[in-house]
Amino acid sequence: MQLVKRPETMERITTEALADAFIDKQVKEVREQVGNKKVLLALSGGVDSSVVAALLIKAIGKQLVCVHVNHGLMRKGESEQVIEVFKNKLDANLVYVDATDRFLNKLEGVANPEEKRKIIGGEFIVVFDEEARKFDDIDFLAQGTIYPDILESDGVKAHHNVGGLPEDMKFELVEPVKLLYKDEVRVVGKALGLPDEMVYRQPFPGPGLGVRCLGAITRDRLNALREADAILREEFDNCGLAKKVWQYFIAVPDMKSVGVRNDKRYEGWPAIIRAVNTTDAMTATIEEIPYDVLHKITNRITNEVEGINRVLLDLTPKPIGTIEWE
Ligand code: XMP
Repeated sequence: MQLVKRPETMERITTEALADAFIDKQVKEVREQVGNKKVLLALSGGVDSSVVAALLIKAIGKQLVCVHVNHGLMRKGESEQVIEVFKNKLDANLVYVDATDRFLNKLEGVANPEEKRKIIGGEFIVVFDEEARKFDDIDFLAQGTIYPDILESDGVKAHHNVGGLPEDMKFELVEPVKLLYKDEVRVVGKALGLPDEMVYRQPFPGPGLGVRCLGAITRDRLNALREADAILREEFDNCGLAKKVWQYFIAVPDMKSVGVRNDKRYEGWPAIIRAVNTTDAMTATIEEIPYDVLHKITNRITNEVEGINRVLLDLTPKPIGTIEWE
């Protein structure tokens, strides 16, 4: 990350016209910086990396090599959307790596949250590095660094994402949105024609569903979590809460309780709903979800998701509870 200061005179990008002007300027600067060389980008599908990808595709087209590593811990439909938007619509030079088995095999039996994070972060670097080495003519690495990342580089969130590229992988950095705040990145993303689902995506941790499938991850419980989460998102979309709530998701603990389904004993995991509002993720309050919405979600999850037999609601603010469960 290049530590730079945002000039005090820099106007906040709030309109399409301001975004267009920013894009034109960046396109020019990136072309000057990169020339006819190639640029590598880890494209997670999150807001920041997606906006950087779209901006660089506009600037240098196929000289940008996007690598999307599916670690098997993505939410339902996310990797598919990355392929649809970047490969099919924007005709990007996209390398898609399905590394699900590699990640899940490494995570097998590992219950300690920090150990899980380390494995996910470490394996990500290994997979990304393997793909990068298949190209011998890449000089630049693009990153979706945004201004809050620079402001927060004091280590407060250092525990979150583990790892960095190996020492011998030396790239010059391309960080076209490093002076922008999140709301500005979204305005720029809209102006670049990215779909709303991508531009207004809620934050999603790097280790993905890995920190929501609590304890040692198993494929069946991970799958139940992914399906329950998709239902929660769908119902929040339907009732308008998706636009209002900062972050909402399901966590599934590694424990079962007794239930009954079709007149038979049905042991299953509980799905825990967490829906919080915050401005900086340092503290968070609880969003009130109308009871009819909660009933509908409960009904759908317990009927549609194999392995889940209860739905619980987490009412804990931060502090004392962190936003994620692990
Ligand atoms: P916590 O759980 O610390 O989360 O209250 C605050 C915000 O950070 C996100 N988060 C992560 N993001 N890697 C990330 O990139 C991580 O390991 C990680 N853990 C938490 C969390 O989703 C919330 O938005």
